[in-house]
Parts: sequence; structure tokens; C-alpha cells
Amino acid sequence: MGSATRACACSVTVRIRDAGFADIGAVVAIERVSFSEPWSEGMFRAHLRGDINTFLVAHEGEAVIGFAIAHTVVDESELLNIAVDQYMRGRGVGAILLDAICGHCAMRGSASMTLDVRASNTVARALYASHEFVQVGLRRRYYHVPEEDALILRAKLPMSVGRLPISR
Ligand SMILES: CC(C)(COP(=O)(O)OP(=O)(O)OC[C@H]1O[C@@H](n2cnc3c(N)ncnc32)[C@H](O)[C@@H]1OP(=O)(O)O)[C@@H](O)C(=O)NCCC(=O)NCCS
Repeated sequence: MGSATRACACSVTVRIRDAGFADIGAVVAIERVSFSEPWSEGMFRAHLRGDINTFLVAHEGEAVIGFAIAHTVVDESELLNIAVDQYMRGRGVGAILLDAICGHCAMRGSASMTLDVRASNTVARALYASHEFVQVGLRRRYYHVPEEDALILRAKLPMSVGRLPISR
């Protein structure tokens, strides 16, 4: 995939591109302040190597400010991880990343995107609702630290809202 550019609500220009090994340090730093059970550096490296994975980063200039990872099996994709730098949240970066990864997976032939989200994660749930995700299931006590249910959400691809034109 090439890069896609969109002006962000905060007047910065956010660019989206495929992640590379040089991005892992910044991605791990964002991950560690975003989740109570963060992925290890090795997990990110493994996802960069897999053929079925899509691993995108959002950057402003040289600075990586967010990432999203999905994997695709035949015509179904799953969003495995998405996070934005804590100081860049609420400015549209998460929505741009979600648009981009859904668009990329649709171009790979995916008909749907599924994800798990903590029931209490109201910000993420609002983001997903605004991108046509609907609840299709529940995994009781799926998360630990703290223990909590996961909602299973799904959206059909391609979505009708906010899709980025992604050049190849
Ligand atoms: C969830 C996350 C990726 C969203 O990224 P973001 O850049 O802050 O989101 P955006 O600014 O693009 O906002 C997208 C939508 O999220 C919702 N949202 C954003 N900030 C919000 C807030 N403080 N309160 C309520 N809703 C909010 C809104 O619906 C918003 O759409 P709108 O601006 O059209 O109203 C980010 O908050 C994050 O990294 N959180 C920690 C990691 C995480 O929880 N990942 C999701 C795991 S399932």
C-alpha cells in the first residue's frame, strides 16, 4: 500500500502508511500507555511478518502517532489492535486509522471486519459505532486487569462512511 493523507480536525496532516520494523519502538511506547495488558515488542514484530496481516501506522511528519493491525482470512478480517498517542487523541486520528484499515482489508477482499472491545471503553465504542459497527456477541469476563466482558462488534465492508481513497 502507498500512503494516504488527510487533514485532521486539529489542522495537522496525518499520513497513513504500512508499518516497518523501524516503527516498532514508537508503536510499543503508544501500546504501553494505552492498555493494561500491553502486547510485547515480539508480538508486534510477529505481526509485521505475517502475510495475512495489515499493519498501518499514522504519522505526522516523522512522528508515529498511532497504529492499527488487522488480519484477514479469506473474506473476513479482524481488528486486532488500534491505539493513538495519548496526546493526539480526540483529534480524528483514530477515525482516520479505522477508515484506512477497513479500506485496506476491503481491497484485500474482506466482506466484514470483526473486533473485541471492553464494555467500559466508551470512546472506542463511540468510534466503532460511528463506523457502522454493531454488536454481534459477548465474551463474558474475556479481559483481565481489570476483569471485564468483551463486546464483539462487526461491520460490513466496504463501509459507506468516511472511507479514505488509498493509493497503491
Ligand atoms: C480509541 C482510540 C483509538 C480513538 O482514537 P482517537 O484519535 O482519540 O479518536 P478520534 O479523535 O478519531 O474520535 C473518533 C470518535 O471517537 C469518539 N470519541 C473520541 N474521543 C472521545 C471522548 N473523549 N469521549 C467520547 N467519545 C470520544 C467520538 O465518537 C469520535 O467521533 P466524533 O469526533 O465524530 O464525535 C483512542 O482513544 C485510543 O488509543 N484509546 C486507547 C486504546 C484503545 O482503547 N483502543 C481500542 C481498543 S478496542
